[in-house]
Amino acid sequence: MLWKKRKIVYVFFISVLILFLILVKTKSRRYSAIKWPAANNIVIYNRIPKTGSTTFTNAIAYDLYKENEFNVLHVNMTKNRQVMSLPDQYTFINNVTTWTERLPAFYHGHVAFVDFQRFGVANPIYINIIREPLERLLSHYYFLRYGDNYRIGLKRSRAGNNETFDECYARSGKDCDMKQMWMQIPYFCGHYLFCTEVGNPDALKMAKQNAIEKYLLVGTTARMRDTIALLEVTVPHFFKGALSHFDSLDANRSHLRYTKKKIAPNDQTLSMIRRNEVYKMEREFYDFVSDLFDAVFKKATNGTSKAESLVNMPLQYHFEKIKPT
Ligand SMILES: *[C@@H]1O[C@H](CO)[C@@H](O)[C@H](O)[C@H]1NC(C)=O
Ligand SMILES: *[C@@H]1O[C@H](CO)[C@@H](O)[C@H](O)[C@H]1NC(C)=O
Ligand SMILES: *[C@@H]1O[C@H](CO)[C@@H](O)[C@H](O)[C@H]1NC(C)=O
Ligand SMILES: *[C@@H]1O[C@H](CO)[C@@H](O)[C@H](O)[C@H]1NC(C)=O
Ligand SMILES: *[C@@H]1O[C@H](CO)[C@@H](O)[C@H](O)[C@H]1NC(C)=O
Repeated sequence: MLWKKRKIVYVFFISVLILFLILVKTKSRRYSAIKWPAANNIVIYNRIPKTGSTTFTNAIAYDLYKENEFNVLHVNMTKNRQVMSLPDQYTFINNVTTWTERLPAFYHGHVAFVDFQRFGVANPIYINIIREPLERLLSHYYFLRYGDNYRIGLKRSRAGNNETFDECYARSGKDCDMKQMWMQIPYFCGHYLFCTEVGNPDALKMAKQNAIEKYLLVGTTARMRDTIALLEVTVPHFFKGALSHFDSLDANRSHLRYTKKKIAPNDQTLSMIRRNEVYKMEREFYDFVSDLFDAVFKKATNGTSKAESLVNMPLQYHFEKIKPT
């Protein structure tokens, strides 16, 4: 009798113990699933050609890496293709996140947005700069013909060709085809096939979504200085001192790269471009990002929109009722 009673008690306790262990196990498993390693010691600037990216990279990465103690690495895409294969994305992410001798690191390169989360790790800090799409295309068009002040001796692919953008447009040339404008949307859209399909509305949608969800900050070429100021106070472990450094560069240096000769298109060309679907989409994306930047900057400067006021802006919150005392 007594033995039977004991048996019931034993079974009861063992069951409770097993239940407890299962509970603890599932709980810890749930936590470990969302525990990503911190990726805030990696910044990726997937720079877009002809947006002032050389100026930006030199002024805030190559000039500051010693003082702020980070590494700078260029991602050189073979044949300037901006899209990586899925296996290349894997090795890239694996390398970037585990190469401890090269942390903290600032990566820059002409590569479309790579989503680390698809491979089960946290995204690093993504930043970017975009430019009004027609201005960007014109800059690219004339850059190919006349080069710039940066690599003077280098012969560009259309050197010797003196056709203006208007002349090119009138004869429906390839270099001024509006397909060439499909650039900033695919950079932000990422590595899906539809991103590279010119005029695909899903690509515009994805680009907008990524710009707000996956990027800490997207500035504009027109507001380079404000962009740098905002980066200094949001990623100080990389960009401390960036604004004063940028201001100290002389005119030659801060506008490091400009195309030597540019001819504004005439009204007829302009009115045709403004009716073009691809232009309208790229412009919509630009306006979307640019308006967001304006709002963020205005809020951060307490309505003054002055870059200088950012560094000394008093906090608009404080901690209290702290326990244990
Ligand atoms: C990228 O690498 C290729 C091949 O090594 C080289 O020719 C090219 O100049 C590099 N691009 C840049 C921007 O350094
Ligand atoms: C990352 O790539 C570089 C250059 O190819 C290599 O030297 C380094 O060992 C790689 N690091 C890791 C952790 O794979
Ligand atoms: C371009 O060059 C050709 C000859 O090299 C000349 O006939 C033509 O007028 C030039 N066009 C412009 C716009 O300068
Ligand atoms: C820019 O550089 C050129 C040649 O290197 C020099 O003559 C000019 O004075 C510089 N301009 C400024 C504003 O420093
Ligand atoms: C922010 O702006 C408001 C309204 O202009 C002003 O009253 C306030 O003092 C400002 N705060 C700071 C920290 O500048």
